[in-house]
Amino acid sequence: MSTQPPVPGTDQPTPSLHDPDWWRQAVVYQVYPRSFADVDGDGVGDIAGVTDRVPYLRELGVDAIWLSPFYPSALADGGYDVADYRDVDPKLGTLADFDALVAAAHAAGIRIIVDVVPNHTSDLHVWFQEALESPRGSAARARYVFRDGSGPDGAEPPSDWVSNFGGSAWTRVADGQWYLHLFAREQPDLDWSNPEVRADFEQTLRFWSDRGVDGFRVDVAHAMAKDLSEPFRPSDQDHLPLDGSDPLYDRDEVHEILGSWRRVLDEYDPPRSAIAEAWVPARRRVLYARPTELGQAFNFDLLEAPFDPEAFRAIIDENLAQASQSGASSTWVLSNHDVVRHATRYGLPDGADSGAWLMSDGREPVLDRDRGLRRARAASLLVLALPGSAYVYQGEELGLHEVADIPYDRLQDPKWARSEHTDKGRDGCRVPIPWTRSGSSFGFGPDGAHLPQPADFGTWSVEAEDGVDGSTLELYRAALAFRRTHRGGEDLTWLETPDRVVGFARADGWRSVTNFGTDPVPLPEGAVVVASCPIEDGLLPGESTVWLTA
Ligand code: NOJ
Repeated sequence: MSTQPPVPGTDQPTPSLHDPDWWRQAVVYQVYPRSFADVDGDGVGDIAGVTDRVPYLRELGVDAIWLSPFYPSALADGGYDVADYRDVDPKLGTLADFDALVAAAHAAGIRIIVDVVPNHTSDLHVWFQEALESPRGSAARARYVFRDGSGPDGAEPPSDWVSNFGGSAWTRVADGQWYLHLFAREQPDLDWSNPEVRADFEQTLRFWSDRGVDGFRVDVAHAMAKDLSEPFRPSDQDHLPLDGSDPLYDRDEVHEILGSWRRVLDEYDPPRSAIAEAWVPARRRVLYARPTELGQAFNFDLLEAPFDPEAFRAIIDENLAQASQSGASSTWVLSNHDVVRHATRYGLPDGADSGAWLMSDGREPVLDRDRGLRRARAASLLVLALPGSAYVYQGEELGLHEVADIPYDRLQDPKWARSEHTDKGRDGCRVPIPWTRSGSSFGFGPDGAHLPQPADFGTWSVEAEDGVDGSTLELYRAALAFRRTHRGGEDLTWLETPDRVVGFARADGWRSVTNFGTDPVPLPEGAVVVASCPIEDGLLPGESTVWLTA
């Protein structure tokens, strides 16, 4: 802890920003900027909106803000189609606004992590525009993956590779060649075997590091290295071979690229942190998280798991073991901007297909909202007690549910069109968050919101939950405040517990106990510090978590 003065308006000291290990056990709050807070009143959240809410985040008790992309973008994929990596989208503000945010966050002891998108650019990026205007075989095309088509007149795509959003991963250009895009057609993949691509990306890392950012979230970190030798081999992201031999994903060569970034990040004092978004099994994930590479990789196992004690315990065991073996620290995620919010997942019948539920506008199967939130609070409290870093997605601290009934003509996610209207996509977790009980867009901004908010959103607003005993916001605040002073070592000790109960102790003896069952169980000995449900008569209610000290 530093000797810096307290943060204005609080009695808590501002933590040192020089600790090189700050990220190992941090609480990182994900801001999806377009849906967080809108200061200029255009219905789209902005950088000034984030700055405006730094005091809120300080009071919540987070260690860092991860900003999803805020770069110039035509929003073909919510900002993950970047037209210029070293600027701010004019719809969201300016570089001066960004600098002001970094200054405000740092003054509050909060770090800033920015999202970088190395696998693909926007089709509006100056490089891609140049490639379109340049002939086959030109240096401009060599920054991307342009190939001739198959079939007698080249009218078929070069391979059967499919886009993550549905449809072919190849799109044909005017002169008959095709370019590769693992996501939307507006997101052409870069060719990472090209030294110019590598040099430019290092410039981007330095650009933001020089501006004071503390870390980077690396989008699709497992796809940059590709085997583009022909004939192209089939790729299957859902069943990766785990030996680096898929032509598109999780290839061993990607680690050489990530290692070169680590050398850039280590030029800074303190070294900049980084976390990989790599949808690979735990055994391969640790490779991305090695200290010689990014340091951390998202562990999405709990995000994909049912609310089940055996599943939670096995995932925690495996990930802590992997982390300690690699020298990384573990990460925990229950929600983000790509998945159905966890309060909703846990309120659907076990095994329900949340995509199909979204397609029914949330009617079928019936969502048990109370149960979902009860379980979400229990799971969140468990996760916040674990060693490693917890990633909290904006609005989960309010207990928000997924918004399932966004009208089709308001959907923005490219998945909707590319799936030929069979997948509603991810807009339901990206609806602008409610700050006030009522008013235009529930306090999101002065003039509406770019995605429609449900009529009851005000009930879940910051205003409605602030200072209210038992609210989800106060639960998170209490948990984060306790965690800040009780981080301890990076391991845990499992406790002997009854069936369907999972409990563990942290270094200085404080414990987290979760009852995954529906019947109450006797409350373990000790003083209750935080509980996800009211504790009465010495019992831990079903589907709840409690933290205890000796
Ligand atoms: C992962 C991001 O989280 C997601 O939102 C995006 O659509 C893809 N990468 C493509 O950039």
